[in-house]
Amino acid sequence: MLELDNLHVRYTPTKKLLSPAAKPVKALNGVSFSLGPGQTMGLVGESGSGKSTLAKAILKLTDVHSGAINFEGQDVTQLNRKDSLSFRKNVQGVLQDPYSSLNPLHDVGVIVGDPITRHLGIKRRDTRNQRVRELLTLVGLSADFLERKPHQLSGGQRQRVSIARALAVEPKLLIADEATSALDVSIQSQIINLLKKIQQEKQLALLFIAHDLEVVKHIATDVGVMYLGYLVELGKTETLYSEPTHPYTKMLLASIPVPNPKQQEKRKALRQSFINAEPPSPSNLPMGCPFANRCPVAMDICKKEMPDPTVTANGFSRCHLHTSGPKLDGETVVDFIKKQAHT
Ligand SMILES: Nc1ncnc2c1ncn2[C@@H]1O[C@H](COP(=O)(O)OP(=O)(O)O)[C@@H](O)[C@H]1O
Ligand code: SF4
Ligand SMILES: [Mg+2]
Repeated sequence: MLELDNLHVRYTPTKKLLSPAAKPVKALNGVSFSLGPGQTMGLVGESGSGKSTLAKAILKLTDVHSGAINFEGQDVTQLNRKDSLSFRKNVQGVLQDPYSSLNPLHDVGVIVGDPITRHLGIKRRDTRNQRVRELLTLVGLSADFLERKPHQLSGGQRQRVSIARALAVEPKLLIADEATSALDVSIQSQIINLLKKIQQEKQLALLFIAHDLEVVKHIATDVGVMYLGYLVELGKTETLYSEPTHPYTKMLLASIPVPNPKQQEKRKALRQSFINAEPPSPSNLPMGCPFANRCPVAMDICKKEMPDPTVTANGFSRCHLHTSGPKLDGETVVDFIKKQAHT
């Protein structure tokens, strides 16, 4: 359904008079993956890794520098007006901030109803309101909400309205970018369960972006890990969490707190084996692997060449340990890193 092929996105700063032109920010660097109906791909990575840029590129909210985004076989960067309209119906986004994404002057009936008129051509007020009521029920809100304005809703209720609005036009792909990050834990899990249920019922493809790995684990069938605009690892969720192949994924996983104190100590030790350094700037990326200055097992080649994605048993990994690195002889990267950290 969705296929990204070697996608690059750059932000070019506007040139200020009399000052030298600033370098472009390389926000996405050759991202490729595909997503099918009923599949949920989680996307994780520290802040600034390009997750929102990826969402915006797919939603046509930012320009693509090179590469392709194919939706049902059509390159979305090249759509004519008519196809653009149908693309906007099929691909919907729910973004982080439900406060700014809902028009404060409109009531919920209009917020959820407008896209129904625009994309499905339903103009009759009673038919449209009936549909809005059904959608509100689907997201766990009663029909009383029809006449409420955004300021009369809690954060969780606003996010439910955003989801209802996105689902109103029966999209095939839903992109949720940090859609639950601003909410407290119990509301967050309610929304996740809701998304999961709707996604399964409607066979929606879901791209679920969050910096919280625990949240992603609960919803995603597949997970992609982003670092400085690169997709560095991709694989099935369970295996990616239990046997990560990329050192950066391992570092992210070691940062998740666990209730067991012994396990927590182990994680802390592993976390400390990574070099405490600032990531490079996305407008001045190194020639080699961008994680090299934080990676405890970096080799000479890592500073010279960016590794290509290499197929692993679970998906792919962009790390020299899988290409010209030391032979692992069946040993997992996790164990390898631990051993290196203790020698
Ligand atoms: N409109 C913009 N102009 C310039 N740089 C931007 C813009 N939006 C994002 N960036 C930069 O692009 C990189 C990726 O950002 P983003 O996609 O928001 O990452 P994430 O969502 O993972 O935090 C960051 O370095 C960020 O500062
Ligand atoms: S390519 Fe090298 S520096 Fe980059 S993550 Fe792999 S081992 Fe570490
Ligand atoms: Mg973001």
